[in-house]
Amino acid sequence: MNKFRIGSMEDYEKAYKSSIDDPEGFWSAIAKNFLWDKEWDKVLEWDFDKFDVKWFKGGKLNITANCLDRNLKDRAEQIAIQWEPNDPVQVGRTLTYRQLFIEVCKFSNVLKSLGVTKGDRICIYMPMVPELAISLLACARIGAIHSVVFAGFSSNSLRDRINDSECSVLLTSDGSFRGDKKIDLKSIADEALEECPTIRNTVVFKRTGDHVTMQSGRDHWWHELMQAADSKCDYEIMDAEDMLFILYTSGSTGKPKGVVHTTGGYMVFSWYTFLNVFQYNEREMYWCTADIGWITGHSYIVYGPLLAGATTLMFEGVPTWPTPERFWQVVEKYKVNIFYTAPTAIRALEAYGVDHVKKYKMDSLRVLGTVGEPINKEAWDWYNVHVGKERCPIVDTWWQTETGGIMISPLAGITPLKPGYATLPLPGIRPVLVDNDGKLLEGNNVDGILCFDFPWPGILRTTFGDHERCRNTYFSTYKNLYFTGDGCKRDEDGFYRISGRVDDVINVSGHRLGTAEIENAINEHPMVVESAVVGYQHPIKGQGIYAYVICDSKHGNDESLISEIKAVVNRIIGPIAKPDIIQIVPGLPKTRSGKIMRRILRKIAGNETDNLGDTSTLLDPSIVETIKAGAINK
Ligand code: WT7
Repeated sequence: MNKFRIGSMEDYEKAYKSSIDDPEGFWSAIAKNFLWDKEWDKVLEWDFDKFDVKWFKGGKLNITANCLDRNLKDRAEQIAIQWEPNDPVQVGRTLTYRQLFIEVCKFSNVLKSLGVTKGDRICIYMPMVPELAISLLACARIGAIHSVVFAGFSSNSLRDRINDSECSVLLTSDGSFRGDKKIDLKSIADEALEECPTIRNTVVFKRTGDHVTMQSGRDHWWHELMQAADSKCDYEIMDAEDMLFILYTSGSTGKPKGVVHTTGGYMVFSWYTFLNVFQYNEREMYWCTADIGWITGHSYIVYGPLLAGATTLMFEGVPTWPTPERFWQVVEKYKVNIFYTAPTAIRALEAYGVDHVKKYKMDSLRVLGTVGEPINKEAWDWYNVHVGKERCPIVDTWWQTETGGIMISPLAGITPLKPGYATLPLPGIRPVLVDNDGKLLEGNNVDGILCFDFPWPGILRTTFGDHERCRNTYFSTYKNLYFTGDGCKRDEDGFYRISGRVDDVINVSGHRLGTAEIENAINEHPMVVESAVVGYQHPIKGQGIYAYVICDSKHGNDESLISEIKAVVNRIIGPIAKPDIIQIVPGLPKTRSGKIMRRILRKIAGNETDNLGDTSTLLDPSIVETIKAGAINK
């Protein structure tokens, strides 16, 4: 067993203490576990004020040498990727470490043949097929920076992300399958590309076989380029701090930002957290149900598991199609040992009734995990009893796109569990809680805002093209602290419980959305004058989207207007951002300085209208009564 796998509570305490006493010694010992072309000169340099963090400075490496080449020695014939298609009638695919290595090398050569060189940005807009993972790894092999855009995003969202980081190549597919739906990815991509001047080439993977238009000189078929590609490709030697990838995520203001992760620190952190949180054992079948379009897929479908030499299951489909038994069928079929999903999926399946899960023994399961949003007690219990049969620890993993990997979580079977709690920080992680004024809340039994006062190897390094925005977003709220945006409690035992966002970010089915972003989309409708979006508690999604919209007085039938507004949001951002509820209002509660009092709107959306607090500073307090009277019941 790997000597860095924590084996007991005592071990955890020892590791935690040594990581605090000597962080550089702690992380460098772990980093030595990898293949480096040259060892680092300095373990850590950091400054949270300017925001400049460097891990393993001067070190040279390639992450794919560690994910692939290194694994050829002992596990070339072991399955690296087990792929299960959307439709259970279709056959799955397996790629051993050797096969994956060859595919990645070949596709690296394809990218090179298109003129891609180190530092170029490559946008990836693909369904959950093995070629998606191959794409990420091929970019990393030749030093190109991947920017994956979730294949559920609209052409506008795709266009903005491509343009923000000036990508030169787009990797996509003809279409994708999601449950009973088929999505024409290539035509969505074509629409985006009308306004993407930096894209020189696209590579199109054939998935649905539907007819697509191929622009000659620009568009190439994946299978045709691969036929001619050589299977030998030396990896590019990267600096530890060279960019590995960009991943766009929403914040409280403006358009999504491109979170940047670099090579060395991210590698060390994604591996260490994977190994310890899930307590991964050799030859286990590991399944994370996320999409690679999100950070969870980057760190815990692709990089973390492959660095650990694990077998990672990639699932193309959805939990509820063709039946709500789909997850459990897959668990049985592949004898999944570790299963990692989102609370929203658990709640959705719970709603279909327990009979669907009771049919499956699922005795292969050893560890369960959740990620993306707080898990309510009821869903936790259901997961524990019906899926884990009360014998699998549940790791509630708290982290963010920006943290690169898991920060606060139980270690399966090692540290104690507490439903609803992410529990304890991983070694090397130093959470602090502060009040609104940034005052440190010491001791236990406190409630505040979650921050970190020391860097970890997986921390973001910048937001692409705008370092000042990064500094502003994460390091200016409280001096010398990384600000997460989450509210958090530390209970009497020192366990952490995340309560949710304290900023204008909402979490819908585990997807992070900025309310400003949704408002901007709503405002694109010609009849809309102004809008305000808040989250409200939703039984399945965690949070639902409630939009208050002021419309032009000449607007017609409310119902058709509402569906038009939803369609606009769908077109501009994508289906995940479509409001659940739209209330047309004559005005919004604004202060004399013109600021919308969202606190009031949140209360109305949450049916908490008894105590709306002080409304005397409003320009027109009567508007509150009007909005209340028209509030839509859920
Ligand atoms: C936000 C980050 C990290 C992968 C998925 C989401 C919320 C995440 C938990 C958890 C309560 C959680 C936070 C966080 N969140 N995990 N276990 N318990 N809340 O990544 O899209 O960057 O979103 O998701 O609010 O800030 P993301």
